[in-house]
Amino acid sequence: MHLTPEEKDMLAGKQGHATKKSMEILVALGEIYGAKRLVPVSSVQVSGVSYKNLGDAGIEFLSELAEDGRARVKTTLNPAGMDLENWRLQGIDPGFASKQLEVIDAYRRLGLEISCTCTPYLAGNEPGFGEHIAWGESSAVVYANSVLGARTNREGGPSALAASLTGRTPLYGYHLDANRVATLTVDVSAELATPEDFAAMGYSVGKVVKNGVPYFRGIRQAGLEESKELSAALASSGGVAMYHMEGVTPEAKSPPSGTEAISFGRRDLAEATAGLNDEGDPDFVSVGCPHCSLKELATIAGLLRSRKVTREFWICCSREVKRQSDEKGYSKVIEGSGAKFACDTCMVVAPIEGMGFHVVATNSAKACHYLRNSGLRVRFLTLERCVMEATRPR
Ligand code: F3S
Repeated sequence: MHLTPEEKDMLAGKQGHATKKSMEILVALGEIYGAKRLVPVSSVQVSGVSYKNLGDAGIEFLSELAEDGRARVKTTLNPAGMDLENWRLQGIDPGFASKQLEVIDAYRRLGLEISCTCTPYLAGNEPGFGEHIAWGESSAVVYANSVLGARTNREGGPSALAASLTGRTPLYGYHLDANRVATLTVDVSAELATPEDFAAMGYSVGKVVKNGVPYFRGIRQAGLEESKELSAALASSGGVAMYHMEGVTPEAKSPPSGTEAISFGRRDLAEATAGLNDEGDPDFVSVGCPHCSLKELATIAGLLRSRKVTREFWICCSREVKRQSDEKGYSKVIEGSGAKFACDTCMVVAPIEGMGFHVVATNSAKACHYLRNSGLRVRFLTLERCVMEATRPR
């Protein structure tokens, strides 16, 4: 792989230990994937923040880098394993909390923004069309490539951090035009009435398209909430990093002739939705996977006005969107009902499996996927029905 003189200096350790380590990661990755060179990035999103996933080895790795490493480009962080301010209210174990705060401290010393959200594009990190970036949250990767037209691979925690500490990433995969071409056409005849319908479709199509690029035809429009749910679902059942939607996303061009095509109709939607539902009465309700938008918080506040929550109910969002919600008066209504904001975290990366819950109701196909993997049963409901479930008399 070709390196510039400055990149060679970085690799030789002339710009410090953390930069050297980071260059070693990037060069190794580039060589595995046949990258010809590195490309500068304008923004990074680092995943691997919850102590639940990082463990003590992760803290050691980060602390070593933090001795002399610093972010060179705008870098935001994925959700942590708890609300960094209200973790006691969430019932988080103090031992876990102290380890999680060590992780956050290391990231702070590295110069990262402690944004702790999987929707960085709603919290001040919104790259423009054609920008090369290195993002490490799969749902945000799909959103960035597909909706924003930025260019990123599905980075792991170490490679995203290495990109931040050097300002570069290997030029391969979704950074190149050739890999952004549709590999499967999906003719959609099902009526997609809610963001949850988009999620169910994404979960179903992700299983078929695997690591490819689906091209959706027949959908007239998709707003922010629909796009974020679709992105998350595609990335969880498959290894999708990008999709196109005819007439909607900025790079949608007809797939090459001969591209395989499948259909997605009314029955497929019903089957996909049913497949995300287990039996059982929910004892925990959580929405905001990916983190809620302000519009979703407005909807929740509207539904919770004059209702009281009867089950543990978490509303996951970024601290930035919560701040906007405070200004609008939504937070007061939400908290007045007994619901809890879970800022900086979510129902998947927080250690909820140790909190005695058995059945989780959520409006996220991605959350259903991961919660099932943690041994919990799930109910996949619309946002409105999640609120009704959280306030249903016991
Ligand atoms: Fe975000 Fe957690 Fe879902 S990180 S996409 S809310 S699993």
